[in-house]
Amino acid sequence: MRKVIIAPSILGCNYGELAAAASELEQDGADWIHLDVMDGVFVPVLTFGAGVAQSICSSVSIPVDAHLMVERPADLIDDFAKAGCRYITIHPESSEKHIHRVLGRIRELGCSPGLALNPATSPEIVRWVAGAVDLILIMTVNPGYGGQKHISAMHEKIRIVRRILDNAGREDVLISVDGGVDSSNSKNLVDAGASVLVSGSYITSSYNRAGAIDSLKVLK
Ligand code: DX5
Ligand code: ZN
Repeated sequence: MRKVIIAPSILGCNYGELAAAASELEQDGADWIHLDVMDGVFVPVLTFGAGVAQSICSSVSIPVDAHLMVERPADLIDDFAKAGCRYITIHPESSEKHIHRVLGRIRELGCSPGLALNPATSPEIVRWVAGAVDLILIMTVNPGYGGQKHISAMHEKIRIVRRILDNAGREDVLISVDGGVDSSNSKNLVDAGASVLVSGSYITSSYNRAGAIDSLKVLK
């Protein structure tokens, strides 16, 4: 069985105690912590910035994965790198015109660059950034909110992206899936080529978060 990385999103946690929530999720078996950074412009909601990310990074020893749903990611990446985030993922649908350059800058900062694709975005872009990324994040909801319905039509996009990366000699690039991930779709997602499952409400609204994390790791 292939190894799957479980990355709980803390979007639905109490904002007064995000660092504690992240640390508890680590104890519950999380492999990474996924941070949904929203600027109130790229998506309607405003969440938090690099200061909060820093306190979360210092409260856990697992990798922290910053998903920047912001219009101007280039303005924020230095601060998120300094905060201690291991992965920094940006959107080509943002107003950033030089996505390839910003991915390179994320690498220069010592972090792993990721590119996130909204549901309506063509996977073709992956061909042209394959050499510049360590992760492709496939959105299986439209970004902005937790608890939305999973768009299973995106499973085909996961297969296409895996093929593009493999053809480019980048078998090592991780495909992460974000949006409505739960135990009913986790196996299909991994079968399609996902190696990281981001999951928010399914884990954080559960009374047994460790059990919910475990249920995503069991792929039978
Ligand atoms: C959506 C975010 C997701 C979200 C996942 O904009 O990028 O990370 O928090 O939450 P669920 O799993 O509830 O869809
Ligand atoms: Zn996310």
